[in-house]
Amino acid sequence: MSSAVYERYSQTVCRQITSVLIISPETYVNHIAPFKPEGSMIIRKAARVVGKSLFFRNATVADAEFILSLRTDREKSRYLSFVSGKLADQQAWMECYAKAEDQAYFIIMNQDDPIGTIRLYDPQGDSFCWGSWILKNGRPSHAAMESVLMLYAYATDHLGFTAAHFDVRKGNERVWQFHERFGAKRVSETEIDYFYELDNDAILTSRKRYSCFLEGSVRVEFL
Ligand SMILES: CC(C)(COP(=O)(O)OP(=O)(O)OC[C@H]1O[C@@H](n2cnc3c(N)ncnc32)[C@H](O)[C@@H]1OP(=O)(O)O)[C@@H](O)C(=O)NCCC(=O)NCCS
Repeated sequence: MSSAVYERYSQTVCRQITSVLIISPETYVNHIAPFKPEGSMIIRKAARVVGKSLFFRNATVADAEFILSLRTDREKSRYLSFVSGKLADQQAWMECYAKAEDQAYFIIMNQDDPIGTIRLYDPQGDSFCWGSWILKNGRPSHAAMESVLMLYAYATDHLGFTAAHFDVRKGNERVWQFHERFGAKRVSETEIDYFYELDNDAILTSRKRYSCFLEGSVRVEFL
């Protein structure tokens, strides 16, 4: 791809690289990107999103090794999209991410300890997609609930989204059960994935129901 095209479409190319590469970036920018719905909202990155006991910090190239360690863990990556396993590829991906205006990729921190990752991407109108949700072994048992509540608080209170969408592999039963308990509605499926949506009411209801994990909102320091 010419550097001019890359310059223009770097963020959409970044997004495409995030999922399984079944089409080339050229195909994406020429045939799919032009038809993306207009008016999608921006996903602003933040330096820090502070919750009750955890905080998120913006992921950088320096986190490539940690991210790769999670994404190449055989058990954890079982239902995640493929990564090459090469540090240089992960570093290049993070450089690409730093330029993208439609993603926020966070390292989940428990005090000084990085315990996982979570990412917001693919804004479609007032709905955002999220994923890359991984927590390392030895995490506190409240980390899953608190990190999800922090993500929804950031997306709705601070970015203005009113809905969410995401997909989960059918085999990742524990995780889709988690989302269903949280109020996600299954809207479609393929042979391998379930697709979910949450509207504003469902998000607010769960934030209230699970307020013992995160009361109120998060404090945000934007980049
Ligand atoms: C997805 C992932 C981050 C979820 O984290 P997790 O810690 O495994 O989440 P759990 O479902 O075990 O929930 C953690 C705790 O919260 C509790 N919990 C979950 N939902 C709850 C609810 N609705 N109410 C109260 N407690 C709840 C669980 O009981 C569990 O408590 P325990 O540790 O005392 O048993 C983690 O499993 C992971 O890294 N998986 C690999 C990557 C992956 O597949 N990511 C998802 C891609 S879509």
